[in-house]
Amino acid sequence: MRNKNLVIILFTLGILLIGLTACQTITPPEYIPPDDLTSEKISYYEQGMIELYPDDLPLLYLPDDPTQYELGDFNYYQICVACHGNWGQGLTDDWREKGFLEDMNCWTSKCHGSNHPPQGFTFPREVPPLLGENALTGYNSARQLEIVIRTTMPWWDPGQLSDEVSMAITAYLMRNRGEIPEGLIITDDNISDYPINPEPTKPIFWITIGGSIILIILVTILIIKKQKRNKSDIQD
Ligand code: HEC
Repeated sequence: MRNKNLVIILFTLGILLIGLTACQTITPPEYIPPDDLTSEKISYYEQGMIELYPDDLPLLYLPDDPTQYELGDFNYYQICVACHGNWGQGLTDDWREKGFLEDMNCWTSKCHGSNHPPQGFTFPREVPPLLGENALTGYNSARQLEIVIRTTMPWWDPGQLSDEVSMAITAYLMRNRGEIPEGLIITDDNISDYPINPEPTKPIFWITIGGSIILIILVTILIIKKQKRNKSDIQD
């Protein structure tokens, strides 16, 4: 009788353990594919990117009392999207065509060419992507990303972002990369806990689940065997 209870307890614990592991995995943001999926967009999608804003960049307002994500969203849209793109794809030809229209060759014009006016700047020719599996390779955690954003961006005037804004943009990017849970607020205390491109997450998840199941089966077999032996001892 006591052994039966033990089996039930062990099973319950096992199921709880599996549930707990499953809860800890972060689900990526819900993605609704746009109607105008071009081959370019399909390839972004396949690389794990999502369309942050439609190509025509509809006006975006900062809500009253914004969440950290909304603050990041607004600032990315205001400051970063021109160079890093509406899919976080970087300054691709496709994005220059869609986002810049007649200014798509901006660096040849007066505003951002080498002969720019004093308040202008030379536009960079190559801008790396920020979303997708090929972006931010070599980064270890959200902390590293936040430091890069705060100290080196925006490219034409590094160091102008407040701690709050660089943290909010980091949270925005991490969420859209599927690397933090929805609604999580990044702070100085937890920012180092969230890795970028965490390849091993999936194997670790399955190893934990597989390990738990094997362990439960083994323990159950042992208990049943012991129970049988006890019974036959009593009969003898
Ligand atoms: C004028 C164009 C421009 C703007 C605006 C801009 N960036 Fe960048 N960004 C660049 C360029 C160019 C690089 C590459 C710099 C280098 O390689 O030295 C870069 C690099 C980065 C990197 C490092 C990527 C890597 O792979 O190491 C991050 C992160 C980043 N930018 C984030 C941002 C964020 C967030 C904003 C908005 C606050 C922003 N950038 C605004 C042009 C820009």
